[in-house]
Amino acid sequence: MEIISTISDMVAWSQRTIAAGRTIALVPTMGSFHEGHLQLMRRAAQEAETVVVSIFVNPMQFGPQEDFASYPRDLDGDVALLGNVRVDALFVPAAGEMYPEGFATRIRVERLTETLCGLQRPGHFDGVATVVGKLLHIVGPRVAVFGEKDLQQLVVIRRLVKDLNWGVRIIGHPIVREADGLAMSSRNRYLAAGERQSALSLSRALETARQRLAGEEEDQGLDAAALIADLTAFIESHPGVRVEYVSLVDRHDLRAKEVVDRDTVLAMAVRVGKTRLIDNGLLIT
Ligand code: PAJ
Repeated sequence: MEIISTISDMVAWSQRTIAAGRTIALVPTMGSFHEGHLQLMRRAAQEAETVVVSIFVNPMQFGPQEDFASYPRDLDGDVALLGNVRVDALFVPAAGEMYPEGFATRIRVERLTETLCGLQRPGHFDGVATVVGKLLHIVGPRVAVFGEKDLQQLVVIRRLVKDLNWGVRIIGHPIVREADGLAMSSRNRYLAAGERQSALSLSRALETARQRLAGEEEDQGLDAAALIADLTAFIESHPGVRVEYVSLVDRHDLRAKEVVDRDTVLAMAVRVGKTRLIDNGLLIT
């Protein structure tokens, strides 16, 4: 595996690869790998002949009060974990390489970013769209793989690529969970033991909602507002947990649902102590 830190070297690598007739799959990340990231890479290896992984903790997607400075960084640990998967190139640009003096462009995807996490994190998805746009142009992959864990991010990127006619296929990969149900996240390492317990309220809320739906006649529909109120109370009954949102939305366009159907996703964001966690899932599986 080659480790590449400049944009010009990355572009040259990709041009050589494509000229040799080999397709590229890109997995953009912020590093501090867990099994979820590794599964995205394995998926990428099934989708193209070469795999490029990027690690870049993108300052543009963090708000001023957010955890940019303390976001976990572990390049040596990450490189060691890449020994377990087939990755051809690791792209690790510095911030000054991605955002040199004078940088002035922002990509904004409207509407889809004005709900859920977009309300709590103004500008966050502009930062994501901008950096993903840059990475797609630098690497030039045929496919790029993203996790459904960040469902809104996935929906925003699908829209971006479609709206701007970029010829890359976006693949969404299912959420990878710990054995007890907690969605894997680089931020889980912030959690103290008691907080780790409280964090399970998210995946348990999802299970509770699914069970409740399984007990209903499907054509009767289920009142979304009542379900949201019950799930919010359930989550907040766990010590140290504060709900940012619990929403029932359409998996494709993120519009709020009043009646649950097969496209309805339960999307949640909470604070457990200082740590912000998200989770989501289809209610009818
Ligand atoms: P990061 O949080 O490092 O996540 C990188 C990719 O891994 C994202 O597509 C994310 O959805 C996916 N992922 C994280 N946890 C997962 C899990 N438990 N199961 C499945 N997939 C999971 O998301 C970002 O970085 C950044 O916003 C980025 C897209 C790199 C732009 O900076």
